[in-house]
Amino acid sequence: MPLLEVRDLVVRFRTHEGTIHAVNGISFDLEPGERLGLVGESGCGKSVTNLAILRLLPKPAGRIEGGSVRFDGMDLVSLPESEMRDLRGKEIAMIFQDPMTSLNPVLTIEEQMVETIRAHRGVTMAEARTRALELLEMVGIPQPEKRLKAFPHQFSGGMRQRVMIAMALSLEPKLMIADEPTTALDVTIQAQVLELLQRLTSEAGTALILITHDLGVVAGMTSRINVMYAGFIVETAATEAVFERPSHPYTVGLLHSIPHVGGEDAELIPIEGVPPDQRHAPSGCPFAPRCAWRVEACWREMPSLAPVAGEPVGRVVTSGPETTHQAACHNPPTPEEAAGGQPLRPGFVPAPPPGSDPVAGTPGAPGMSAAAQREGGQ
Ligand SMILES: Nc1ncnc2c1ncn2[C@@H]1O[C@H](COP(=O)(O)OP(=O)(O)OP(=O)(O)O)[C@@H](O)[C@H]1O
Ligand code: SF4
Ligand SMILES: [Mg+2]
Repeated sequence: MPLLEVRDLVVRFRTHEGTIHAVNGISFDLEPGERLGLVGESGCGKSVTNLAILRLLPKPAGRIEGGSVRFDGMDLVSLPESEMRDLRGKEIAMIFQDPMTSLNPVLTIEEQMVETIRAHRGVTMAEARTRALELLEMVGIPQPEKRLKAFPHQFSGGMRQRVMIAMALSLEPKLMIADEPTTALDVTIQAQVLELLQRLTSEAGTALILITHDLGVVAGMTSRINVMYAGFIVETAATEAVFERPSHPYTVGLLHSIPHVGGEDAELIPIEGVPPDQRHAPSGCPFAPRCAWRVEACWREMPSLAPVAGEPVGRVVTSGPETTHQAACHNPPTPEEAAGGQPLRPGFVPAPPPGSDPVAGTPGAPGMSAAAQREGGQ
């Protein structure tokens, strides 16, 4: 039984400027204690997915408009708000990018920690204080007795994030969601805070969803990765498989745009173009305008997630160490193409947008004849 089961989740924002198609029917599972990375460029729906799980979407614009979220046997979409409030913090903890937004600036660290611990656990003030002290020590805050009396602004960013991690874990949640937990921190502190998060969640057996735009961050922290693009999960696999055999052109692009892939001499190639405007309902694969592998079907139809070549035929495993490697792509890159960062099939050219003038040329296929493009596009 998965701890978390998200099925066909759809999230929309109804704004003055129109409907934002933020999350477009995503499904994934998470086992108890599992560590999942959620990766993708800015605006692809990582935060919204998790705010929807926690029912913390900004109101009134943001709404879950389809799908289901089951956590530990409970249906979170229909759970009464009072029960949901109880669940947050206690069963599902959250850490956000800027700890200042989660800490109360006018209360001391002690007051906040004691209050949090007492709100969810039936303990005395003295017991809660002792626990708070232990927690500060556990996350490596020097002179914890003295530090308990401090206000959040007297802590550095790294220390505040340590306090947040300590507070989040104090309630022994089953799931921790960390949304860009180190982006606001100094680079030298980032690794320490991630290491702390990794160690403490592992020791406690807490499942982790780590959200980041940086594939490098999830490499050592997670056992599985969901790659998101334009509100879709476009690839999902064990972390090693994502790095060794990326099977979606977007993942290939991400990997080629981070420094450590292929050694020090590897060329950094940013993904050209920008993500689609999510005010339009998705039609076709949203990556098509930027994709060097696109074929005609890509403009018409968004492919579903399906096992990639080489995966065992049969039951699809959606979580845990045996996770089936899946990608949502009409024309997945071969391993050689993924390594090279471009299609290598002789004569292949990306299919032009429907209705474009093939003679005048199209993005990605300048000057090609229609016949050559059709031939190359299959
Ligand atoms: N309050 C809001 N009102 C309207 N649209 C929103 C709101 N919050 C998010 N969106 C839209 O929902 C989509 C998904 O946003 P989300 O915040 O989940 O992106 P993200 O993947 O977390 O990006 P980042 O890496 O920048 O944090 C985007 O198109 C965004 O503009
Ligand atoms: S080949 Fe087609 S389906 Fe695959 S990522 Fe490119 S545009 Fe999307
Ligand atoms: Mg975000």
